Amino acid sequence: MPSMTTTTQAPKELGEIRPRVMGFEFDDSIPRHWVAGAAVPTAMGNALHLIFPMGERFFVRAVKHYADHIDDPQLRAQIKGFYAQEGRHAHEHEKVFAWMERQGLDIRRFLAIYKKIAYAGIERISPHKLRLAATAALEHYTAIMAENALKHGLLERVHPAMREMLVWHACEEIEHKAVAYDVLQQVDSSYPLRVAGMVVATGTLIGFWFLGAAMLLRQEKGLTLRETLRQLRAAMQVNPLGRQVFARGLREYLRRDFHPWQTDNLALARSHLERLERTAA
Ligand SMILES: [Fe+2]
Ligand SMILES: [Fe+2]
Repeated sequence: MPSMTTTTQAPKELGEIRPRVMGFEFDDSIPRHWVAGAAVPTAMGNALHLIFPMGERFFVRAVKHYADHIDDPQLRAQIKGFYAQEGRHAHEHEKVFAWMERQGLDIRRFLAIYKKIAYAGIERISPHKLRLAATAALEHYTAIMAENALKHGLLERVHPAMREMLVWHACEEIEHKAVAYDVLQQVDSSYPLRVAGMVVATGTLIGFWFLGAAMLLRQEKGLTLRETLRQLRAAMQVNPLGRQVFARGLREYLRRDFHPWQTDNLALARSHLERLERTAA
């Protein structure tokens, strides 16, 4: 099957993809339970903080492997912006690691397991094309989570210091959401490869997210199973979109004619970015 030139599907207003250096600070005024004042949703948020940096560096390596195969100058420029944005995201999330450790949370054990399975294991044994396909699929999930967060006010119950950082990350995820997908289409547009990438993406995201949250929750003294389940139910009621991320992700991504920009949410991202840059100035 011939490779497709897909960059034209991005909205014209996208322009250059560039990182914004925000310099967030995570000090001890942030409460231990920074999501809705509750342990369970906070553990899910903290687990995402832990998963992102290594994941984002994996994405960059997966795309970098094929960067020289891309002739389209527009996509080549977008790839550079993608590296820069993901690098900044990883850096900012790692700043939260220090805050978590000051809260007395052991994060190193999870990070060691995650690194061993995902990077010393899966990354080493899987073919380059599958890594790229998994990256494109994971970017679809992050774009859905980003849209949910921005469009439906899901971050309203989050402490402002964490909220600003997550809003910034969400906006930039929307901006670069099609880059890995477009690279995949140029490298190999086969549908089975795309599906295989989605299988790896879904399994690893659910697995590591759950494991991270569970390992953090075990450290919450006095938290009973009954209370954990109660908080989980409450979180799902407040945030029904959260549990639909995977269903929506699969439904959209498995359409044969799928492209990330079929959902044009750039204006949503740009409006939040403008506000963030205004307040940071
Ligand atoms: Fe990111
Ligand atoms: Fe991303």
